[in-house]
Amino acid sequence: MTSTGDYSSKTIREQAARRRTFAVISHPDAGKSTLTEALALHARVIGQAGATHGKAGRRATVSDWQKMEQERGISISSAALQFEYRDAVLNLIDTPGHADFSEDTYRVLSSVDCTIMLVDAAKGLETQTMKLFEVCAHRNIPIITVINKWDRPGLEPLELMDEIRERTGMLPTPLTWPVGASGDFRGVLNRADGTYTKYTRSDGGASIAGEETMDAEAAEALEGDAFTTAVDESELLEMEEQNHDQESFLAAKSTPVMFAAAVLNFGVHKILDTLVDLAPPAEPRTDKNGEPRPVDAPFSGFVFKVQAGMDANHRDRLAYIRVCSGVFERGMVVTHASTGKPFATKYAQQVFGRDRAVIDEAFPGDVVGLVNASALRVGDSLYLDKPVEFPGIPTFSPEHFMVIRAKDSSKYKQFRRGIEQLDHEGVVQVLRSDLRGDQAPVLGAVGPMQFEVAEDRMVQEFNAPCRLEPLPYTIARRTTEECVPTLARERSVEVLSRSDGELLALFSDRWRLQGVERQHPELVLEPLVVS
Ligand code: G4P
Repeated sequence: MTSTGDYSSKTIREQAARRRTFAVISHPDAGKSTLTEALALHARVIGQAGATHGKAGRRATVSDWQKMEQERGISISSAALQFEYRDAVLNLIDTPGHADFSEDTYRVLSSVDCTIMLVDAAKGLETQTMKLFEVCAHRNIPIITVINKWDRPGLEPLELMDEIRERTGMLPTPLTWPVGASGDFRGVLNRADGTYTKYTRSDGGASIAGEETMDAEAAEALEGDAFTTAVDESELLEMEEQNHDQESFLAAKSTPVMFAAAVLNFGVHKILDTLVDLAPPAEPRTDKNGEPRPVDAPFSGFVFKVQAGMDANHRDRLAYIRVCSGVFERGMVVTHASTGKPFATKYAQQVFGRDRAVIDEAFPGDVVGLVNASALRVGDSLYLDKPVEFPGIPTFSPEHFMVIRAKDSSKYKQFRRGIEQLDHEGVVQVLRSDLRGDQAPVLGAVGPMQFEVAEDRMVQEFNAPCRLEPLPYTIARRTTEECVPTLARERSVEVLSRSDGELLALFSDRWRLQGVERQHPELVLEPLVVS
């Protein structure tokens, strides 16, 4: 096998095998930020989780994490929180908290090898939980499900398992089972060996919760009926063959389940252990042609997120790269696959380089943030020596549409630049047609807050105040050039082209779409499925 620079193939393979690259995803409010802090605390990175308790400062955005980094000395490489646990290196990739930015979340999912799906014990599966399950299952991303907030009254655990099974089609295979009903969380039965882990509260959840593991006999003596009920329920699961199976977990057909109360740090240890023991390491990524690139091949990676304006003084633009093979070394010159041009990482890294944030090297599974990488777009591949292109990152079906125009025609140049930039970053989808012209492109979004961000940035960053007018469409379908003349004759239908070359036909609603489909069954009108 090849080696990269000073690193032997063996070293690279070993480092890749240590990596667990994952994201915590959930419907808003299920406890994502709380769990993020708790995981880092348990990995003993943070001295006191809960020190910043209170909603305001706790949205797990990148800038919050930078604050966290300064205050607490956590090593944060841009959009990823990296920490060591046992012998593993865990990369926790940040996802936006608000459902309106779910397209961003979906993109981030292309960079992870596993997800932790948080479910609120009282609410069960919510809208966003369902969408995320769907995306993960579609892309075969293994899911570890964590039922959170067990310290509060909620649903019956068996009921929750039925809901997961029926609504997601995935088999829930609990690794732990709660002892004590929701609202009376005493500990968990470890289903693999029948032992009991008892949790005790520490001061306001500020430090690691007390944990004591004992055998079944001691547990029964201590907890009485609460423990025997858990054992009985676990046997019911056994009868339904709801036991962990690594192969079906990796194929996203079953999901291991754990019970936790992130705010009290109950069950967090077990989540970390499960990540190390069960989550897949960084493995060879398949390229566009279906060929896996070995982890010890020369460096390669792809851009899964572009973000601008993180540093108000610099107006910088960060491209986040997931390393797929080899070693990323600061300063190396790589090739940008879509243009074939060399891309120097040196300058970028110097600007980025504040103490701990400097990344000198990164291995497969790690995330690197490149500053002022204005040539890079979401989905682009980078490589060293041996060319490779990874599959593009899917875009999602927009459901909201607005026409955007510059308020001041003398600012048209700024306007164009701004639109192009927002398009590159994937802040919104930019759709065009000859009919509308370049002065008035259409913006498409999955969630309406994306428009607010776009408008704000057009003013603040590009000095191009603009006007947005809503369009009465809610559905987009992929179509072909041949279908355009027929569609153009239909009322309340419009065809626009997206910057990735796709032709999208927009319809006012489901009924309009069905009407057109009935009338012209020959037309290509494909849903923009997540792929
Ligand atoms: P999110 O990032 O998924 O949106 O959720 P976040 O962590 O902000 O948590 C949402 C709320 O749920 C917070 O309460 C948080 O304290 C609470 N929470 C998280 N995990 C648990 C848990 O295991 N048990 C209980 N009982 N509550 C939990 P908040 O009142 O909105 O804010 P705060 O003032 O308590 O921080």
